[in-house]
Amino acid sequence: MSSVKTAVFPVAGLGTRFLPATKSVAKEMLTIVDKPLIQYGAEEALEAGITKLVFIVGRTKNSIIDHFDKAYELENELQLRGKDKLLKVVQEVVPDGIDCVFIRQPEALGLGHAVLCAEAAVGDEPFAVILPDDLIHNEEESCVKQMVGVFDKYQASIIGTQTVDIEESHKYGMIAGPEVEPGLARVDEIVEKPSPAESPSDQAVVGRYILTPAIFEKLKKTERGAGGEIQLTDGIAALRTQEQVYGYSFKGKRYDCGSKLGYLQATVELALEHEELAGPFRDYLKQLDI
Ligand code: UTP
Repeated sequence: MSSVKTAVFPVAGLGTRFLPATKSVAKEMLTIVDKPLIQYGAEEALEAGITKLVFIVGRTKNSIIDHFDKAYELENELQLRGKDKLLKVVQEVVPDGIDCVFIRQPEALGLGHAVLCAEAAVGDEPFAVILPDDLIHNEEESCVKQMVGVFDKYQASIIGTQTVDIEESHKYGMIAGPEVEPGLARVDEIVEKPSPAESPSDQAVVGRYILTPAIFEKLKKTERGAGGEIQLTDGIAALRTQEQVYGYSFKGKRYDCGSKLGYLQATVELALEHEELAGPFRDYLKQLDI
């Protein structure tokens, strides 16, 4: 069994960059080819051996609860029509032995606050945090699985990181610190959305974390920061004064599906790998006069 048993999915944000689509549909239910973003995130967790999925949901997120619920009528209908392959696809959304827990974040007070809402469901154990709008693609080993491996070695909080153009620093949490092995840096500094001039490096935090439960006490004391929100980054900044935190430069390609461009890039590239669509979609793209 994996040393990290629980994954938290904070999916209670407002998704303003995708309005009006996100007026009544959760951003995480937007579909890349044939699966909602949230399912890519859940599959990543399951691949890492995680058995409990905790969703922090907001007002427009009932479709997420429905997606991970058992769909008796649909399953019955598919069975009657002999659609066995589709029936399997539906049943495998939540494989046997996996627990789903849904918690409401009453107000969108920030990512740090959303993670704190998971405290009772997580308990006194290390846990993963997955932001499904950062879709990370790696055919061989999922990002979270890689990070659980690093956690097992260092027994410390691990943050997924990526090199970005420094001009983009104001969109991310940014870290800095010495490399302890190739691809792994000790986090000596972490700041939320600094200007390029104030950013400590070009290493950005992306939506994957393995955190020790000590983060909860820190988040309780974290005040509103950038954007008036309780920031997970500020909680991690407090955590690293007490125990070591590492930034892990994961292997894989990340698509920022919270932005329209990233969403379209993921759609095109994953369609080009899809078993049924790859051929016809490639032919279609080739004949476009662009
Ligand atoms: P984002 O910064 O992407 O915000 O949040 P958002 O509201 O989802 O989208 P935009 O920027 O308005 O378009 C990062 C992650 O934190 C979650 C979001 O759901 C997303 O997964 N989050 C954010 C919460 O769960 N609760 C919050 O109060 C804020």
